[in-house]
Amino acid sequence: MLDDLKANNRAWATAKVAQDKGFFKRLESQQAPQYLWIGCSDSRVPANEIVGLDPGELFVHRNVANLAPPQDANYLSVLQFAVDVLKVKDIIVVGHYGCGGISAAVDGKRLGLVDHWLHPIREVAARHQAELSAIADEHKRYDRLCELNVVRQVRNVASDLFVQDAWARGQSLKVHGWVYALSDGLVNDLNVTVAGLADLRD
Ligand code: CO
Repeated sequence: MLDDLKANNRAWATAKVAQDKGFFKRLESQQAPQYLWIGCSDSRVPANEIVGLDPGELFVHRNVANLAPPQDANYLSVLQFAVDVLKVKDIIVVGHYGCGGISAAVDGKRLGLVDHWLHPIREVAARHQAELSAIADEHKRYDRLCELNVVRQVRNVASDLFVQDAWARGQSLKVHGWVYALSDGLVNDLNVTVAGLADLRD
């Protein structure tokens, strides 16, 4: 099976060079992506492919249920590098409908370590309990929780000191919240973009 992957890789690299002779040479010397993607690890949500971007164009952080926990050194390292060194212009938190992490957070079943990881989603669910419990259909309720989780993570990113310091020194930086639909491959912009401290207050 892995031999297939290696063959795919050789074919891909050959096609890239056929299309653009200097492709890998250019990327070897530097990366200058304009976007940071914070998405779910789910295999059905491949970041670059969904938005049609090549290697070098998207800085990517993925974890289960696209969380941005302010104590997570992995996420924070990615965020600081993206903001301070790469100086990305846009940070996009991307959830997806039908996310297993969202349902696992609240369905009461025990999976193990990931139950701890998903704790912030249970907090979001508790905070919006009235709205969520009014949605009779289970899948629709999870999808709404998925959106609420993205909004919460956008708030986390925008509240981070690396981001706020960037705004304070006049750096242009926006934080967006999207949800991707597995059913049709389209992203839904939740229109919760934060471009500065004033937006965050709103
Ligand atoms: Co997911």
